[in-house]
Amino acid sequence: MSERRVAEVTAAFRELYGSGPDGVWAAPGRVNLIGEHTDYNDGFVMPLALPHTALAAVARRDDGILRLHSGDVEGGVVELRAERLEPGGGGGWAAYPAGVVWALRDAGHTVTGADVHIRSTVPTGAGLSSSAALEVVTALACNDLFGLDLRPWQLARLSQRAENVFVGVPCGIMDQTAAACCTAGHALHLDTRDLAQRQVPFDLAAEGLRLLVVDTRVKHELGEGAYARRRAGCEEGARALGVQALRDVALEQLDEALAALEDPAVRRYVRHVVTENARVEQVIGLLDRGETRAIGPVLTAGHASLRDDFEVSCAELDLVVESANASGALGARMTGGGFGGSAIVLVEEARAEGVAKSVTEAFAEAGHRAPRVFTAVPSAGARRLA
Ligand code: GLA
Repeated sequence: MSERRVAEVTAAFRELYGSGPDGVWAAPGRVNLIGEHTDYNDGFVMPLALPHTALAAVARRDDGILRLHSGDVEGGVVELRAERLEPGGGGGWAAYPAGVVWALRDAGHTVTGADVHIRSTVPTGAGLSSSAALEVVTALACNDLFGLDLRPWQLARLSQRAENVFVGVPCGIMDQTAAACCTAGHALHLDTRDLAQRQVPFDLAAEGLRLLVVDTRVKHELGEGAYARRRAGCEEGARALGVQALRDVALEQLDEALAALEDPAVRRYVRHVVTENARVEQVIGLLDRGETRAIGPVLTAGHASLRDDFEVSCAELDLVVESANASGALGARMTGGGFGGSAIVLVEEARAEGVAKSVTEAFAEAGHRAPRVFTAVPSAGARRLA
């Protein structure tokens, strides 16, 4: 599978640029098991990488020219000058790889141009971090081709900076770290304050379980302001409570903290973040004790909190959770930023097909577009393929 894709991007690169690439790199999309909207509050997250990847065939250049091409969108090669890259220029998909080159150079690294051809199987607009995959694959290719010697977490940080400053989306660090640092067969327990990581074994198939991803096909768009407003509300809450970030409010302090807050929206945001961090710890504890099935209700509780307190769900995501649980799933929740995108469903292997069918039927009955359902197999993070 990946050999065929490597051959395809290599051939397309040759066709575009006249000679072969120096290498081919891959970076995955992700789903987040638990820990949503906690990453910009210095909290905990637990993503796993998907088998879906962005592939980049790249050749180094030393003349300052950056040529970018995507096999997934209409339009030809975008040609830029590395030293003239400036944040805020817009530029669609090309802003992600261009932003990474900008972030690397802005941090003082020598990146003197490249020819790039990208092909991705990560669904876009589905809340599965297709943009982080584009960023991290570019960062890793530059790291190798220019001998930058950066660690995966540093590539994640620079990729996040590209997205925050160059593209202008105020995302946290989860998606880029997932793309850079996840490993096959594991979920990544990440402390977003210091980026301390632990690879937690997550072999559902061995336990007769499955994690379904249900893409509602409702377009998820982080740039529209709702995400930024949640983030600002959380920061306002932290300021009002006199803590560095909401991560510093323990579950035992929650009632007291809520009583001290005046704005009802900020109060709800704080309650979500504090309880969600506790849910990550709960899930970790259960997984460490081998009680995987018991994480189901924790996932569902996380969804209720995102729906009612954080207000980032939508009718379609709620319907996935409701219909999946009603038809025998162990638990379900939206995953990623919300406002559309995807949900995850934990289910017994033997019931997976039935649950997927029930969700699809519920969508048809409600007059929604048919969702796309697939199984999340915890896969490898960014790597060189050729
Ligand atoms: C998006 C952002 C992440 C994170 C999630 C919500 O995916 O890119 O940084 O904030 O939303 O958990």
